[in-house]
Amino acid sequence: MVEVQHVTKRYGSLTAVDDISFRVERGEILGFLGPNGAGKTTTMRILTGFLPATEGQARIAGFDVFEQPMEAKRRTGYLPETPPLYPEMTVAEYLRFVARINGMPPGDRRTQVGVAMERTKISDMADRYCGKLSKGYRQRVGLAQAILHNPDVLILDEPTAGLDPRQIIETRRLIAELAGDHTVILSTHILPEVSQTCQRVVIINRGRVVAIDTPDNLTARLQGSQTLYLQIDAQGAEALATLEGVDGVASVTCVDEHDGIGGYEIESRQGDDVRRELSRTVVTSGWGLLELRPRQMSLEDIFLQLTTEEAPTEAVHPGMVTPGDEADVTVEDRVDE
Ligand SMILES: Nc1ncnc2c1ncn2[C@@H]1O[C@H](COP(=O)(O)OP(=O)(O)OP(=O)(O)O)[C@@H](O)[C@H]1O
Ligand SMILES: [Mg+2]
Repeated sequence: MVEVQHVTKRYGSLTAVDDISFRVERGEILGFLGPNGAGKTTTMRILTGFLPATEGQARIAGFDVFEQPMEAKRRTGYLPETPPLYPEMTVAEYLRFVARINGMPPGDRRTQVGVAMERTKISDMADRYCGKLSKGYRQRVGLAQAILHNPDVLILDEPTAGLDPRQIIETRRLIAELAGDHTVILSTHILPEVSQTCQRVVIINRGRVVAIDTPDNLTARLQGSQTLYLQIDAQGAEALATLEGVDGVASVTCVDEHDGIGGYEIESRQGDDVRRELSRTVVTSGWGLLELRPRQMSLEDIFLQLTTEEAPTEAVHPGMVTPGDEADVTVEDRVDE
């Protein structure tokens, strides 16, 4: 449904996106994860035809976004980082305006606007001026305009940024509902969001793809051999030596000692499940077994491991804070609150 092949974007001497390739299948939700300035927005703007790539190809539903922009755009809904609202229009007027410029037949506009407002839960804001909306509602109106023409592909740049916790849950639910017959690409910095919402994750760092996989596979692959955490009421060299002697155990590190209780991190050899042997040894040694659990590497650990290998070479990241956007948000917020 979405195909990105060797896309590169250079701004002068800065390579913002560096030879990125990935595919997204119909109905899939793909998470685009990366630190500030990684190139998420740049990639999304290329996919939606707002920005030409320096090199490479991108296709939406088989249509090349550079060579067949109208066909590609018709099938794409885009929520930009800052939703492009007209402050002097009401929400309903704005959405009808978007429907009109998208070429929606006049007879369908009112119904489709109603459906989009219903789905994004903004019907009660229909007559509010866009310029007077809070950030969360602006975000939802942005989402409504993205789904208005029922596109095959939704490209959402940080859809939950600035929302309150309840809205975040509602937006995630909405995105999950929209997937299925839509294909969704969403960018985020929020790691739990990716594991909760997305089937696959592309992690990008400094313009390059550093991993593409399911959240579960990423965790498993990077974890390698399994680490267990064991807590017993025994400490010292004897306990350590006994644990090290258990079949399949590669190494034991004492990570905690207090009040006669010892906490150990136990690395097993690849493929070995040492839990039974370990618990048996603890019990036959006459110790109390207080805790035994896998110490899983979180998505956060993986993300840090993949994205902090070297210090960034760029001294400045002008894309991280766009002065225009900042000023815009501040002024509108002041009018609103
Ligand atoms: N118009 C531009 N001119 C020059 N450099 C740019 C421009 N837009 C973005 N960049 C640079 O390209 C790189 C990628 O920026 P991009 O906005 O795509 O990152 P991002 O992953 O979306 O970051 P964030 O999480 O902060 O939104 C950054 O180094 C940024 O400074
Ligand atoms: Mg961005």
